[in-house]
Amino acid sequence: MTIPRLIRFNFFTVIFIFSACVTVADMPLTRLYAPANKNRVAEDYQVTSDGGMVVAAHPLASKAGVLMLDKGGNAVDAAVAASFAISVVRPQSTGLGGGGFLLYHEASSKHRRVFDFRERAPRKASANMYVDEKGEYKKITFNGKLVTDPPVNGHLAVAVPGLVKGLVEIQKELGKLTLAEVMAPAIEIADKGFPVYRAIASEIVDRQEWLRLYPSSHKIFFKDGQPLKEGELLVQKDLAATLRQIAATGSKEFYEGSVAKKIVAEMERGGGLIDMTDMRSYRVIERIPVTGHYRGHQIVSMPPPSSGGTHVIEMLNMLETRDLTDIHPRGATYLHLLSEVMRRAFADRAKEMGDPDFVSVPTARLTSKGYARELMKTFDPEHATDSKLYAANFPTGESQSTTHISVIDQWGNAVGTTQTVNYSFGSCVVAEGTGIVLNDEMDDFTTKSGGSNVFGLVTGKKNDIAPGKTPLSSMSPTMIFTDKGELEMVLGSPGGPRIISAVLQTALNVMEFKMPLLEAVHATRIHHQWMPDAIKVEAASLDDDTRARLLSLGHKLAAIESIGDVQAVQRLSDGGLVGVSDSRSDGKPAASPKR
Ligand code: DON
Repeated sequence: MTIPRLIRFNFFTVIFIFSACVTVADMPLTRLYAPANKNRVAEDYQVTSDGGMVVAAHPLASKAGVLMLDKGGNAVDAAVAASFAISVVRPQSTGLGGGGFLLYHEASSKHRRVFDFRERAPRKASANMYVDEKGEYKKITFNGKLVTDPPVNGHLAVAVPGLVKGLVEIQKELGKLTLAEVMAPAIEIADKGFPVYRAIASEIVDRQEWLRLYPSSHKIFFKDGQPLKEGELLVQKDLAATLRQIAATGSKEFYEGSVAKKIVAEMERGGGLIDMTDMRSYRVIERIPVTGHYRGHQIVSMPPPSSGGTHVIEMLNMLETRDLTDIHPRGATYLHLLSEVMRRAFADRAKEMGDPDFVSVPTARLTSKGYARELMKTFDPEHATDSKLYAANFPTGESQSTTHISVIDQWGNAVGTTQTVNYSFGSCVVAEGTGIVLNDEMDDFTTKSGGSNVFGLVTGKKNDIAPGKTPLSSMSPTMIFTDKGELEMVLGSPGGPRIISAVLQTALNVMEFKMPLLEAVHATRIHHQWMPDAIKVEAASLDDDTRARLLSLGHKLAAIESIGDVQAVQRLSDGGLVGVSDSRSDGKPAASPKR
């Protein structure tokens, strides 16, 4: 098989690239993100194979997936095994108390399906549930402590979890192995424990105020009163027992039996809203993927209630109106164009997006070529557009959670799935006796008029809370095909709104700039989300000339440590696979040989 040109770079090469001061003409094509783990070089994040590939944000999860491929399982078995495993090793990002989306491509029929197992608002939820008569968040306390930001922290932040039903139903319909087989690795890791790694240790520290408050969480993530440290073992016996129960009985116990009762009891302890009726009536929804075209490629992605796929396609359509042949992927001309395209798409996100089962969402218009041409009429190559052209202004916040898994099996079937508990460790509440970290997905709704969520995102009336409604998401499991429908790539990322920008830029790096996947994933990224009106720029990603030019065009620049954590698999023209995990985080691909 042909392996694309590898960019051989180690930490010193990265420093060299960062420190080079060059003009656009001789600027290196890419400026590469330095691996977050300084002991590894970027090539450690790439694996090639002629068989199957699983790419997840923790090596144990990729390995769990590949074990299924080795047993004769397919991409769905691998993705579900990796999902349960990552629930155990990334409780800060996803888990049985969360939800997600899954995009599936069946090689034999070229049929593409998407499944929505995202959390839904409890039936007792209502548009103004978090605010008092002055429009401020109500004062909610737990054990005498004020729970600030109640859509993010504590029991009232929790929406009805969908992950378990989603994974169990999808695996039952599309997998080849038994549920017990695909869950075995997750059970073993929960039972025996795994060494705490850098990112989880620092996330426990970041969220310790809330993880300490809830005794059920404190007893898992702390040792002798201190947050677990890198290298210590994180053992999750209750979670192992819950996983065992699911492996033996499917999702019934979780939604109708003893697990549901424990979740509801936990809700009652802290003023949460979920009751047994909410649990019993949870439904997975199959939706129709959103599709687009970009210069000879087909794009297939997640439709509303995710905004992700729609905006990736909307932005590609805007970019297609311009000739990018000679544009430099690091130059100010391109970064200005990219930010303006992002600004326009994110303004639409705030205005137009919500759960399509509750409000009308103009997906067809937003993804049409004509609409993109219309939006680009106001694009000015010499000036940044004023975001106020569209509406109000808002603050921001950051987090490192959510996770994405990309799989292609030896038959060419593919899965891309993005899963989350929302902010780091979700609500920080573990349902006592289950080991399950409960989500804080309610924060993805408009919870306060004129406010923004933990990611600084502004949404409108269409995303108001209502019983049974799904909060708007940015999660964008995406696949790229040739114009003949041959699978080229599966990708996705965490990062809240930055998911959309990370997926867009990685896809463009491959489709437009023909970068090898390793380089496409590691090229530095920018992000603009309309409000706040600033381009977020990864540290050291711009040289002085580019920075100065963007400022002179009227942009505001804001530094950010990293944007996204892409997990991607590419299928080369000879059928060989390349898997790449983003060195911004902790992933590593795993491959299964051809049989
Ligand atoms: O669904 C969404 O868009 C968010 N709940 C995702 C949150 C996320 O990616 C957090 N990661 N940094």
